Amino acid sequence: MTKKIDRRSWLRSTALVTSSFALTPSLKAFAMHEASAAPNFKAWDWERSYAARPDITKLKARLLANENPYGPSDKVRLAIMEAAGMGNRYGHSAAAKLIDMIAEKEGVTPEHIMLGPGSTDMLEKTAITHFIDGGNIVSADPAYMSLIKTAMAFKADWKSVPLTKEWAHDLPAMEAAVDKDTKLVYVCNPNNPTGSITETKALWSFCEKVADKAPIFVDEAYLEFLDKPESASMVGLVKKGKNVIIARTFSKIHAMAGLRVGYIVGLPETLERISSMVRGNMGMSITSLKGAMASMEDLKFQENSQKWNKETREYVIDELKKLGFEPVPSYTSFVLFQIEMEGKPFLEKMFGKGVGVRAFEVFDKPYCRVSMGKMKEMELFVETLKQVLV
Ligand SMILES: Cc1ncc(COP(=O)(O)O)c(C=O)c1O
Repeated sequence: MTKKIDRRSWLRSTALVTSSFALTPSLKAFAMHEASAAPNFKAWDWERSYAARPDITKLKARLLANENPYGPSDKVRLAIMEAAGMGNRYGHSAAAKLIDMIAEKEGVTPEHIMLGPGSTDMLEKTAITHFIDGGNIVSADPAYMSLIKTAMAFKADWKSVPLTKEWAHDLPAMEAAVDKDTKLVYVCNPNNPTGSITETKALWSFCEKVADKAPIFVDEAYLEFLDKPESASMVGLVKKGKNVIIARTFSKIHAMAGLRVGYIVGLPETLERISSMVRGNMGMSITSLKGAMASMEDLKFQENSQKWNKETREYVIDELKKLGFEPVPSYTSFVLFQIEMEGKPFLEKMFGKGVGVRAFEVFDKPYCRVSMGKMKEMELFVETLKQVLV
């Protein structure tokens, strides 16, 4: 931050706010989750119990989970309503049809695709099947922790490699970290929680080379927010026969987070190995499958999501810079920036004013991550931030 906030005054206001929130039990729900702590990244999070969570549906601006505020598209809503009456049937045929559509879009055969209820399911299934006998996982730090946490639960050693000072993956250091016990390399690009990107050509060469030593999992959850997503995807490496697994989700650009649809693209033998232990393509509801098909055809909605997300992101970045913050360059639907207040009181103040965001400690400094909502929500976020921090 270039514009320094007077430390004494924020400490004083923090103390005041903390004490006033003692009267509001639901807002005492934040805790640092050590269990999910990475060496350079810790999350201030809800208490694990749902009962202790504040009701986020009451927020004026819900900017905490990288949800897409614009959907699901009208076509998806219609498809879901039409599919509701088929709820007595398994969705195998619908899954096969969605797989065909995805395979055609990605330029692979249906045997290269596996569906799950959200990409989380695919991240976890990949972790379970690759780390059932231990080994190590190589990834950046900070990174999206879902797959890594499951791997560690299966006794994997996590070999974390700090992001570079440009917030990109340190590919040479990651390559050097791969050894004979490495069962998987995890790359999240663009990365969460930083929003930053790793240059396509460099990542391509890294994957091409390193995939001969260990499988590489590239989580492309936010890829579609880029201006030219296809040219940044690593799917082409699967087509070249490399042992690379790509994860995509309908939660972000398609605005279907609550409908739970995600998939991986991988070599047929890799997907067969996964489904020999845990079943892919199950756990999907017929309504979500039909909704996903309708969404794939609604190109206008995807285009608008990308465009509106970019507009709000540019607005937020401009406003943050005007206030003296230095946001991490973002290629996603969220923005990360350093703040001068500890995460817990910061969240209590923001939530107290009806604005839900996330707070993290990154390289031992407090950061706020704000997801892009509609423009009105982002204006409220900026106004609230001024009251809380400036
Ligand atoms: C990088 C990344 N991968 C995967 C996911 C999981 O998304 P979902 O399970 O909704 O597909 C998320 C969710 O925020 C994410 O940020």
